Amino acid sequence: MSDTRQQILEILGGHMSAILARSVLSLSISWSKVDPNRLRPGDDNRLLAELEKGCRLYVRDDTLRQTCMEQMQTLLTINGHTLPPPEEPPRLTRVPVLGESDIVDARGIGRLVCNKLGFSGAMQIKVATAISELARNIVQYADKGEITITTLNGNRRGIEVVARDEGPGIADISLVMSDRYNSRTGMGIGLKGTRNLMDEFDLKSTPGKGTEIRVRKYMD
Ligand SMILES: Nc1ncnc2c1ncn2[C@@H]1O[C@H](COP(=O)(O)OP(=O)(O)O)[C@@H](O)[C@H]1O
Ligand SMILES: [Mg+2]
Repeated sequence: MSDTRQQILEILGGHMSAILARSVLSLSISWSKVDPNRLRPGDDNRLLAELEKGCRLYVRDDTLRQTCMEQMQTLLTINGHTLPPPEEPPRLTRVPVLGESDIVDARGIGRLVCNKLGFSGAMQIKVATAISELARNIVQYADKGEITITTLNGNRRGIEVVARDEGPGIADISLVMSDRYNSRTGMGIGLKGTRNLMDEFDLKSTPGKGTEIRVRKYMD
């Protein structure tokens, strides 16, 4: 990758001593808080404004100074636009759930996404536990299905997990979500416990067609 700092120094050095060029550049970087080698949109103008202040002191000739500024502007525009965009974490991860190892994978991916989002350790474990309960139900009752994990970047940051299958469905939803029902498998947390661990819980199930459970946890 091109070293933009070095290229700016070369341009400045054509108009002033090497030592002055270095100090104009380093002061411009610290005043504008812009690293020429990590330009983001809008950064180039802030850096150029500071470079211009330095050039006004040391390149007295207006025409020469203008040439110097234009050279740096061109350089920053080209380098700013050829840099790769900042890395964004994937928004959606789909995990096919067919067996025991997929439960572990889905759980691990959920935890990782929470960690990237900045969830506390305790919150990461809550989400991971909910995911393993949902994935275990798929393996136990529907044989196969999938879990999707999506980051929520709207006005509330968080994570959404959807568990889908085309299994037998849940005949009596109100029974399994009631106080009368006690989960015995998985970690014994079950659907009720999962609802308690998360901020939002939505269960849709049609006997003979399948089940879709959507849960969400927010950062705050
Ligand atoms: N994906 C699913 N497909 C079909 N039935 C399900 C599914 N998930 C849960 N169930 C039914 O709901 C019941 C309650 O589930 P849960 O609360 O996880 O407790 P447990 O799995 O320990 O019985 C299960 O016993 C099962 O009959
Ligand atoms: Mg269960």
